[in-house]
Amino acid sequence: MTYFPETARYNGETMSYRRCGRSGVMLPALSLGLWHNFGGVDNLENSRAMIRKAFDCGITHFDLANNYGPPPGSAEEAFGQILQKDFATHRDEMIISTKAGYRMWPGPYGDCGSRKYLTASLDQSLKRMGLEYVDIFYSHRPDPETPLEETMGALDHAVRRGKALYVGLSSYSAEQTAKAVAILRALGTPCLIHQPSYSILNRWVEKGLLDVLDREGVGSIAFCPLAQGLLTDKYLKGIPEDSRAGRPTGFLKPKDVTDEKLDKIRKLQDIAKARGQSLAQMSLAWVLRGNRVTSALMGASRVAQIEENLQALKNIAFSPDEETRINAIAGV
Ligand SMILES: NC(=O)c1ccc[n+]([C@@H]2O[C@H](COP(=O)([O-])OP(=O)(O)OC[C@H]3O[C@@H](n4cnc5c(N)ncnc54)[C@H](OP(=O)(O)O)[C@@H]3O)[C@@H](O)[C@H]2O)c1
Repeated sequence: MTYFPETARYNGETMSYRRCGRSGVMLPALSLGLWHNFGGVDNLENSRAMIRKAFDCGITHFDLANNYGPPPGSAEEAFGQILQKDFATHRDEMIISTKAGYRMWPGPYGDCGSRKYLTASLDQSLKRMGLEYVDIFYSHRPDPETPLEETMGALDHAVRRGKALYVGLSSYSAEQTAKAVAILRALGTPCLIHQPSYSILNRWVEKGLLDVLDREGVGSIAFCPLAQGLLTDKYLKGIPEDSRAGRPTGFLKPKDVTDEKLDKIRKLQDIAKARGQSLAQMSLAWVLRGNRVTSALMGASRVAQIEENLQALKNIAFSPDEETRINAIAGV
């Protein structure tokens, strides 16, 4: 059926937009990541319905990487098909990102941070998605073996070739980020955004990275804000077969669902209930509190999750008492 996007999608009721660092780009408070549930092993119509629902509700940012699937590359292919079918006239309303940094093809040039790998990978990603350019191209992870100047030079080159509008870093430490940001600035391609993992249960960014980003005017998008689904009610009564931990292709493994984590999740759920939110909603709101993070990058396996999660934006303020209790449960 022909897709006509919801005409009220930008009226401010379902989505708000936040400035990404000191740049001209606004990102939706909630963005959608295609790491899981958009691959060749997944149902394309379900993936398509999720992208439609997200866009209908004002989610304008979709995050991919060369290796998302499985098999690697298939999420970009599926997204390309969906774009072609439903969004051909809406490209200019979207911020589409991809990355290179993990193993993608065999041999010495299919992994890490060389100019050779990043340049070839971006060309492959564009081909799979049927795009002329991506909005953001990321170095997916730091590569200690490649000079930082080379990796940043490859990002700058992608912009100069017209294949990316902006560049970003993912999972770089505070120190690596400060150096990379300086190199990019000197090259004339400022770093738009950093993509770190961040959730109630995973606080490494609070130990320096967020300060560097604030100082340098770089935006941030927090990945795995739901700890891959742990920060929801889904694992409280065992591991459902159709969950990420229950499926053979999921990155979350049954051994990751520990009693210790479940105990924390139960306690966090009590706080969420008192706020009138589900635990998923509170966890997304928590990442967005205080405006230090530009966007929460959630994943989803079905439309209903996106609908539920969007309601998080109705209350992203936390009282000092709630903050203290959440920190105590998280062990911070
Ligand atoms: N830069 C990097 O190195 C890196 C690494 C990882 C991820 N990422 C990015 O971050 C994105 C998000 O990562 P993620 O998918 O792990 O994020 P997440 O938001 O922490 O977890 C998403 C998963 O939680 C479950 N879920 C979501 N909403 C729910 C709800 N309301 N109730 C119950 N369960 C719910 C779903 O899993 P079920 O399948 O169990 O339903 C969903 O797939 C990725 O797609 C990718 O774009 C980047």
